[in-house]
Amino acid sequence: MCGIIGYIGKKKALPILLEGLKALEYRGYDSSGVAFLKGKNVNIIKAVGPIVALEKKLNLDEDTFVGIGHTRWATHGVPNEVNSHPHTSGAVTLVHNGIIENYNELKSFLEVEGVKFKSETDSEVAAALINYFYEKSKNILEAIQKFKGKAKGSYAIGLIVSNDVNKIYVIKNMSPLIIGISEDGHYLASDVPAILNRTDKYITLLDGEYAEISFESLVLYDNEGKEKCIEIKTFQGDATCIDKGKFEHFMLKEINEEPDVVKTILTKYLVNDALKELPDLSKYRGVTIVACGSAMHAGLIGKYIIESHLNIPVTVEIASEFKYKKLLLNKEDVVIAISQSGETADTLAAVKIAKSVGCHTIGIVNVKESSIAREVDNVVYTLAGSEIAVATTKAYLAQVIILYLMGFRNEMNKTMSTSFLKIPNQISKLITSYDYEKIASYIEKNESVFFIGRLIDYALCMEGSLKLKEVSYIHSEAYAAGELKHGTISLITDGTPVFAILTDQNIADKTISNIKEVKVRGAKVILIVSESLDNVSKDVYDEKIVIPSIYKEIDSLLSVIPLQLIAYYCAKLRGCAIDKPRNLAKSVTVE
Ligand code: AGP
Ligand code: GLU
Repeated sequence: MCGIIGYIGKKKALPILLEGLKALEYRGYDSSGVAFLKGKNVNIIKAVGPIVALEKKLNLDEDTFVGIGHTRWATHGVPNEVNSHPHTSGAVTLVHNGIIENYNELKSFLEVEGVKFKSETDSEVAAALINYFYEKSKNILEAIQKFKGKAKGSYAIGLIVSNDVNKIYVIKNMSPLIIGISEDGHYLASDVPAILNRTDKYITLLDGEYAEISFESLVLYDNEGKEKCIEIKTFQGDATCIDKGKFEHFMLKEINEEPDVVKTILTKYLVNDALKELPDLSKYRGVTIVACGSAMHAGLIGKYIIESHLNIPVTVEIASEFKYKKLLLNKEDVVIAISQSGETADTLAAVKIAKSVGCHTIGIVNVKESSIAREVDNVVYTLAGSEIAVATTKAYLAQVIILYLMGFRNEMNKTMSTSFLKIPNQISKLITSYDYEKIASYIEKNESVFFIGRLIDYALCMEGSLKLKEVSYIHSEAYAAGELKHGTISLITDGTPVFAILTDQNIADKTISNIKEVKVRGAKVILIVSESLDNVSKDVYDEKIVIPSIYKEIDSLLSVIPLQLIAYYCAKLRGCAIDKPRNLAKSVTVE
């Protein structure tokens, strides 16, 4: 979601900005634009749609050495050229990621002061407010400080001033932004991988901080406006891999990487039949998991595993809700934030709240050195490598595996570790054993699909359903199998596809009864069943996928692989933009 890039240095700026915007593309966007300085003049070029539309308008050989660029994921105002960034007000031109929450109030104030607005965005209001203060004092640093005092919300801002030709200014509050440092100049970017081709040295800014950047110098200011020492870091994470290899889409490539991801995790965290480096949850009174989307679904599986195996109560909270509800946490609790990107604004905010009430915080994070990884007390990396497809697959599985390992802590022994070590092979087998495209062809024409299961199987249903919705745009619902008859069964008619997951011996009979309930009402049942329970009579299902048995709950997690593949093939059959589904962003950096 939104990408910011900037450059000031010895090299021509436009090729660098374009390269950076392309590297940030995976985050999701609907329009893009750049602003660059030529002498005292600010030039702005924008385009709606893919970056190539912008590229066509650029003269990459332009003699400009200072520029800022942006991919916009619209929050305020439709995605059109006027609303896309950069925005100018007087001498100030900026790109912005985030949301200025009190923009309406600020806009009314500025309109009274005679400011005219061209766009519907909150970002133009930010530009106008900074320019308003700048016009009064002609001191941009003072204007930034005043802006911070008035603007509420989240903002990562890259800014140039038309009279101040050799500078870029940045401001950061609750949205990601880093400054890259190299011999040829300075960079700014939403994440370090976007500039890794140029430099691996960077500095991070804390919320409320801002900086003044020229070719030779970099001055960092803290929240109060005092100059601050710069601490240069060297990036240790993975470079974003933007090569699909032999696969048609990143989503398919990433599903095929799952066996290796699990191997990598086990090699790192399971050594000589014991867990290494993973936090021991049994010392806490309770566990609260905060996350969004698929990461929250991973958390739900974690809840079942941790509660059953460590006997600690676990609450799973949608991060965007957690922030606004009464919290009954105390210092004996641990809060676990799960996030692939490590940049999800709601999850990051939840971590800050948890810290403020004195809870220990753990992050289960994929992107190294991301904001959440830096914010938590203890980070566990999921080691899934770069995930480019917006719909998460391998990173979700990695989160689940980490939660399983943490939950099985007290039972980890030779037998258990042997079971875990079987997972990669069984995933590979599952990927190749079925014609998922054929199964997808049975449902791709339907407008509504159901997923049913109980306990962990239900949590997996939620993820399967989300995956299908995200990439194929087929509406689906996940239901706890026993809950369907409390209303939603009215939607089951002749031919309605129902995926039923059955991997738990203890509740198998109950789930089978629920499957029969939909079957007799005409549902087309696709049964996903673990090998050890594969004795369900044929009249209960239409299609069957058998999950190779390893060990009770471990079998359950494998059932997500067929669901990911079926979602992928449905999307393919329906001609959807699989890796970048409409309206979605990889990294949701606004609340
Ligand atoms: C997954 O396919 C989604 N696109 C989405 O639900 C995602 O899991 C969610 O936005 C959380 O992202 P994070 O893991 O990067 O925090
Ligand atoms: N709120 C701003 C807008 O709608 C910025 C969105 C973004 O982060 O891309 O333009």
